[in-house]
Amino acid sequence: MSTEKPKRIGILTAGGDCPGLNAAIRGVGKTAIVKYGMEVIGFNAGYTGLIRKDYTELEESDLSGILTLGGTILGTSREKPYKFANEGDTEKPKLIKENYKDLGLDAVVCIGGNGTMKTANRLRQEGLNVIGIPKTIDNDVWGTDVTFGFDSALQIATEAIDRLHTTANSHQRVMIIEVMGHHAGWIALYAGMAGGGDIILLPELKYNIRSVCKKIEERYESNKPYSIVVVAEGIEHPKRVSAASHIAEAIQTYTGIETRETVLGYIQRGGSPTPMDRILATRYGAFAAQCIAEENYGTMVAMKNNALTAVPLDEISDKLKLVQKDEKLIGKARRMGVSFGDEYL
Ligand code: F6P
Repeated sequence: MSTEKPKRIGILTAGGDCPGLNAAIRGVGKTAIVKYGMEVIGFNAGYTGLIRKDYTELEESDLSGILTLGGTILGTSREKPYKFANEGDTEKPKLIKENYKDLGLDAVVCIGGNGTMKTANRLRQEGLNVIGIPKTIDNDVWGTDVTFGFDSALQIATEAIDRLHTTANSHQRVMIIEVMGHHAGWIALYAGMAGGGDIILLPELKYNIRSVCKKIEERYESNKPYSIVVVAEGIEHPKRVSAASHIAEAIQTYTGIETRETVLGYIQRGGSPTPMDRILATRYGAFAAQCIAEENYGTMVAMKNNALTAVPLDEISDKLKLVQKDEKLIGKARRMGVSFGDEYL
């Protein structure tokens, strides 16, 4: 029998929530407890829990029955401990280091998006053993092909677009649907393609409203009297209105065709994860526990070419995985007549 002291680990979920967080917590926790005999605690409300020493001991039984639940049993927050109120104010990082030591932790698993990975990397630089798990509906974390949460958001957005087709057709209207993505247009691109959108506007591609209107008029003239326009929330538009209202107003003004808008909002982040997200989050979680057992710290678990890997946090911190102009799906879409609003720039 091994006389080695069992490892004690913390888990936290930070940043905007997404479907699959509980599957990831369960994946880490169960593997850590069942396979490696570790002790597990969960910090409440992201990095806030680590700062305030607000945590719960997690037994294996606490991790049963949560796989299918949306949200996060640990809660989350957008706390950024390194965003100092005043220059030189290092109170929060200091508290984190003290609490990590007091609690006798061997490692902390930080489940989150870009901001969370950036903080995790800072904690690594301060000497904490950290492992990141990438989550976000936006799918924009650098260093991994995919984040969990994306597939669930995609399903919700695609279903919404499917439903808009019938009502757009009945009324022969232009329907604008706005999906999430401030910087990255992955949801807009994928849901737009899966839902048969006619025009897709992404934050990464500069659009011209003339191109958008021309495409709609061409469709109208070729017996396609209704159109679906999928826009990411982060496309260029005046701050006082949503991206969808801005585009809807412009189209109605320039084409005279009746136009309506829908902003999908937080519905995309709520509810139960899809089977694919449950599997991905579980695989990430289980692999994170394995990384701790192997003391492969300072890394983010990732998926590359369908294989699990651990990427150094230092390589990904401060980067965003954006849709590239030469993204293959964009090329395929253009060849089918889908417009990205940039044809007449
Ligand atoms: O990171 C996911 C995301 O849903 C973005 O697409 C969105 O703009 C943002 O979070 C909004 O989150 P919140 O209002 O919770 O800060």
